[in-house]
Amino acid sequence: MEIFILLIILVITTVIFVWTIYMIIGDAAGAPFVTVDDNVLVKILEQMKLKKGSDFWDLGSGNGKAVFLAVRKYGTFGYGTEINPLLVLYCRIKAGLSGSKKVKFEMNNLFKTDISRADYIYFYLFKGTVEKVSQKLEKECRPGTMVASRGFEIFRWKNRLTRILETNGWKTYFYKV
Ligand SMILES: C[S@@+](CC[C@H](N)C(=O)[O-])C[C@H]1O[C@@H](n2cnc3c(N)ncnc32)[C@H](O)[C@@H]1O
Repeated sequence: MEIFILLIILVITTVIFVWTIYMIIGDAAGAPFVTVDDNVLVKILEQMKLKKGSDFWDLGSGNGKAVFLAVRKYGTFGYGTEINPLLVLYCRIKAGLSGSKKVKFEMNNLFKTDISRADYIYFYLFKGTVEKVSQKLEKECRPGTMVASRGFEIFRWKNRLTRILETNGWKTYFYKV
């Protein structure tokens, strides 16, 4: 019995430790984990006009909300890349339970992820990070790829801006590569 309790304490402590470390790593690598309201994500995806069978990516996918929503509501394939292994594990379990073969989550730094086949890309990252991401997208994405940046404008893409959506005091910026 004592061993069992000790094991539970060990597991909980390890999870808290790993979570704290990866919150710090996420913060340094692009943005910490913050969840977005479902109704806000619905509005963002609505504006992206996702097409059935297309490839939707969330760079820094967090708890996978945007990816699951894109697949469930619009019939896209959904991909998430995320640096925090606990969030990736959560998303993979959720995907497994849903039985959907159209979602995929990888534990990776978004800057090392191949996104060349994406049709739609969404992210919610820090101000400085979105400028860096835009350079990656310019190099790797097909012309016409739709991009949505929640929270922060990409200043070097002023000529690519197609619309701005305001929700709960935050803006989402939409671009075409
Ligand atoms: C603000 S949250 C956004 C979560 C999700 N995209 C959403 O809108 O609900 C940012 C996420 O990006 C992840 N992240 C930050 N830098 C990253 C990087 N370089 N590569 C992959 N994921 C990263 C964080 O761990 C965090 O989960």
